Amino acid sequence: MLDRPASLRDRMAMYNANTLKIGVFGANCSSGRCATRLPERWSASWPDCLRLGRMADAAGIDFMLPIGRWRGYGGETDMQGTTLETVTWATGLLAATTRITVFGTVHAPLFHPLIAAKAFVTADHVGEGRFGLNIVAGWNEGEFTMFGVTQREHDARYDYAQEWIDTVKRAWSEPDTFDVDGAFLKLKSVRAFPKPYGGTRPIIMNAGSSGVGQRFALRNCDAFFTASAGSRAKLEENAQHVSAVKSQARALGRDIEVYSVGQVVCRPTQAEADDYYQYAVIDSADWDAVDGMLVQRKITRDTVSPEEYADKRRYTAAVAIGGYPFVGTPDKVADELANLSRAGLRGIAVSFVNYLDELPYFCDAVLPRLARMGLRT
Ligand SMILES: Cc1cc2nc3c(=O)[nH]c(=O)nc-3n(C[C@H](O)[C@H](O)[C@H](O)COP(=O)(O)O)c2cc1C
Repeated sequence: MLDRPASLRDRMAMYNANTLKIGVFGANCSSGRCATRLPERWSASWPDCLRLGRMADAAGIDFMLPIGRWRGYGGETDMQGTTLETVTWATGLLAATTRITVFGTVHAPLFHPLIAAKAFVTADHVGEGRFGLNIVAGWNEGEFTMFGVTQREHDARYDYAQEWIDTVKRAWSEPDTFDVDGAFLKLKSVRAFPKPYGGTRPIIMNAGSSGVGQRFALRNCDAFFTASAGSRAKLEENAQHVSAVKSQARALGRDIEVYSVGQVVCRPTQAEADDYYQYAVIDSADWDAVDGMLVQRKITRDTVSPEEYADKRRYTAAVAIGGYPFVGTPDKVADELANLSRAGLRGIAVSFVNYLDELPYFCDAVLPRLARMGLRT
């Protein structure tokens, strides 16, 4: 018995009328998305995640987006070294909440598509249509060797991901037994029941930054995540990017929403916010973890000059890990978030140094400002 309609449009709207969707990003990973040594850094324990999920649900946050991460970045904190598996995490949160959409993040090459499709359907039934899927085609090398899986060459990862998502979608929709006869997947007499909640399917997102990754998103996804700055100076550039993505999608007969990511340090005064940001993100940085991240991108002291290495390190700690830093008073943070909406972005996934400590002030001070600007109900 269907309790509520769950059309794809309802799912993409996350069952509400908010113009600017706001999500919480990375809470299933220790340290979240900040390479800090501060003792209050995020634990990612289940009790903390559960409290956060319930708090976000009650405050009207639209979604939670976890990170699919299998090993940490090292350093004193082993940033993101302790993580909860995202689909089981999402299922637990969906059972404990009523409104919020929760994503699972899955590396296509590491999960058999039929097992994955059924796990997604299970989560979607638990959440009555509130499960979303983030597909990762392949990213950190070390994670794959740990599974004994060899990463394909970059573009071939997306060829595989295409067959994988086609198979998942068929498992979600084929009314009868079917075969898959692809270049990578050969599956006989597949049966997959039940189908997702409400006769539709979970929303799908991807965050490929390469051309081939972006084209994959345009062909297959409902939401495309990108990194966009919230400053007014970038408004025009962001608007052009969003409009290009949307028109390329329309040329394929598809509708796609563009989202961004960021980290928030919001305090009553600008000085307090700046001081905490400097203290948490730079002065208390776990530089060995930052180095661990750079190694994944083949950036080491041996491959670039000392000056370039110092720049990349600082940039990675300050911006690359967390996304655009929304640092300031509630007025400033709200205005910068609104700039994303003005540029046509549909929403943003944000992280905090400690989500449980900082989400209440964000919800109390920033969300009402966005409501007054007409961006949230
Ligand atoms: C919002 C966002 C979420 C992402 N989530 C994950 C993740 O959970 N796990 C992961 O390994 N990579 C993740 N990625 C990496 C992307 O999926 C992608 O592999 C990366 O941006 C490189 O792009 P490319 O594959 O087109 O080269 C994420 C990126 C962004 C911007």
